[in-house]
Amino acid sequence: MDNFSEKSRARLDTLTRLIQSSLDGYMNEQTEKADKQKKVAEAMAYSLSAGGKRIRPLLVLEFCRVCGGDVNSAVSAACALEMIHTFSLIHDDLPCMDNDDYRRGKPSCHKAYGESEALLAGDALLNLAYGIISRDERISPETAIKLIANLTEAVGVFGMIGGQVIDTDYDGDMDEKLLLEMYSMKTGALLKTACQMGCIAAGAEEAKLEYAAVYAEKLGLAFQIIDDILDITGDEKLLGKPVGSDKECGKVTYASLKGVEAAREAARRLTDEAMDALSHFEDTEFLKELTMFLLKREY
Ligand code: IPE
Ligand code: IPE
Ligand code: MG
Ligand code: MG
Ligand code: MG
Repeated sequence: MDNFSEKSRARLDTLTRLIQSSLDGYMNEQTEKADKQKKVAEAMAYSLSAGGKRIRPLLVLEFCRVCGGDVNSAVSAACALEMIHTFSLIHDDLPCMDNDDYRRGKPSCHKAYGESEALLAGDALLNLAYGIISRDERISPETAIKLIANLTEAVGVFGMIGGQVIDTDYDGDMDEKLLLEMYSMKTGALLKTACQMGCIAAGAEEAKLEYAAVYAEKLGLAFQIIDDILDITGDEKLLGKPVGSDKECGKVTYASLKGVEAAREAARRLTDEAMDALSHFEDTEFLKELTMFLLKREY
């Protein structure tokens, strides 16, 4: 994250520490309670603590702040989303999906713990996510319900899971329109709920949620296009996951359909549009630098 100013770097450190210590707390509760379930609790902690950029929880916390909220009221939503994202990665790597053996710089969950344990660890992370929001005493029951409703929609059949269905099952011609529709579901939906849950935790008015959605929609498309480019041009060691997986699975991606240079140009344009949407919020220096980092990232 070289492009960050000193102020943003300090903010990144503070937020990352908050996310990490909260995730550790939630996972310790699981591993300490577990007896016969130790293996699945360990598998959950293994994938969750393996690292990752933590982009989604960062967006939750930062959108809460730019809407004038206290970040502590967004911590459970931020952690819940990282749990759900990690669940999606565990399942995405399974042999029945992308069949990838390496994730976040370590053997994938099913390589380390076996397929059935990986499947269950994913399920358990998804379930735990809703649990931690519902029992968070820092937020009102009304806010908890709003957060859960927003998150559920993003994860479901018309969100991330729906996008994964198109990605895995569709065997017709993949054109640009369908590809972008799939990206906005499989990747954009979780980024959108990240930004919107931040607004909800801050008690922001509806208009802010709409602006957050515009930002996230553009960011989501750019993010997945960059992910596709990195699958072609990336360095496995930096990425922490296999390069060439899309080609091996016979997948059409934006980068394979349009070429790497045109894909990069599209990601640049979408990033500009995302940046414009931030003008509806105050004090967005950190968010702008994060958005630029995501365009230029090598991992
Ligand atoms: C990977 O997401 C899956 C996609 C949606 C492309 P990230 O690139 O955010 O993965 P981590 O969390 O940093 O490992
Ligand atoms: C995955 O897209 C999006 C998810 C919902 C997990 P990819 O399959 O391209 O993600 P990576 O490249 O394996 O991280
Ligand atoms: Mg996939
Ligand atoms: Mg994959
Ligand atoms: Mg990919």
